[in-house]
Amino acid sequence: MTDALDVLLLRHLFADGRPFVCGASLASALGCSRREVNQRVEALGEVGYRIEARPHAGYRLVEAGDVLVADEVRARLEGNVFAQRLVVFRETRSTNDVVLREAERGAPHGFAVLAESQTAGRGRLGRAWMSAPACGLWFSVLFRPGGEGGWQTPQGLTMLAAVAVARAVDRQVARAVSIKWPNDLLFEGKKVCGILVEARVDGERRPYGVVGIGLNVNHRSTEFPEELRGRAVSLRMVDGVERRRADVLVSVFEELARLEREGMEAVASAWRERCETIGTLIQVQTADGVREGVMTGVTEEGHLMLRGASGAVEIVVAGTVLSLGGEG
Ligand code: BTN
Repeated sequence: MTDALDVLLLRHLFADGRPFVCGASLASALGCSRREVNQRVEALGEVGYRIEARPHAGYRLVEAGDVLVADEVRARLEGNVFAQRLVVFRETRSTNDVVLREAERGAPHGFAVLAESQTAGRGRLGRAWMSAPACGLWFSVLFRPGGEGGWQTPQGLTMLAAVAVARAVDRQVARAVSIKWPNDLLFEGKKVCGILVEARVDGERRPYGVVGIGLNVNHRSTEFPEELRGRAVSLRMVDGVERRRADVLVSVFEELARLEREGMEAVASAWRERCETIGTLIQVQTADGVREGVMTGVTEEGHLMLRGASGAVEIVVAGTVLSLGGEG
């Protein structure tokens, strides 16, 4: 009941135009006292929501701090599968680990975990992922098997997540973000977001995927370790604007849900539009060595298509694009 009250309260407070919410009608909708409503408003004030209480009018959200509160995300995304089971940690080792563990225990599609900071955040190829508090969005989402037209491979899931984040970033920043195969979002060659998909099979041998997303939002350049400064960027470094991370998260969840509905054909075509290396000569590091050729596209499974010197197109399932070349 307490959660429901917060969700309802926050839903009204975040409604378009942010009108006053009448305390009496909230109390009757939730079957609690007006005093309890008032206590809730005060509690929200303590975590960072500045709420005006006006006699005879009710409550109004004046300003919200950069807080990550699951009830707010739920309140703003009624019916969104990723928002409904969101859990927010102050600190954890890796949100991917938490979701992988809960997936083993039967957590449903859409289960999501976000952490203010990670002590052992990880990236692809066993690399560490810097996840400092208050700077970015570090979260993981569970994808159970997709239906017809849905994701079939971990690489396809990576593609879906990349397009979702890119579209969410578009809503925030006037400059275009590009995608580098397989999992990086870049502003002028600098990485703003990384995606780590870890796939497993459940007890009934059905595949599921944990999509881990690390999005740099409010870092100043000095907040990145020195060795990353030339390669990493945050939204704030792109346009100087400090953002509420919850607003960005809400957009990502909206876009994830939209792309799930649209299906992989639409995902792949949106992905191709954002990829700057299509049509250029590239080198790809694979487990079997370096491949070179012109990138001609990606498949709906998220596999890279590379045309070699012989003219034949090779499908590369896993690897890393090493360098950008000239026009192909
Ligand atoms: C990469 O670019 O190598 C992928 C980085 C993925 C980082 C995210 S942060 C949330 C989730 N938890 C992790 O431990 N990693 C992913």
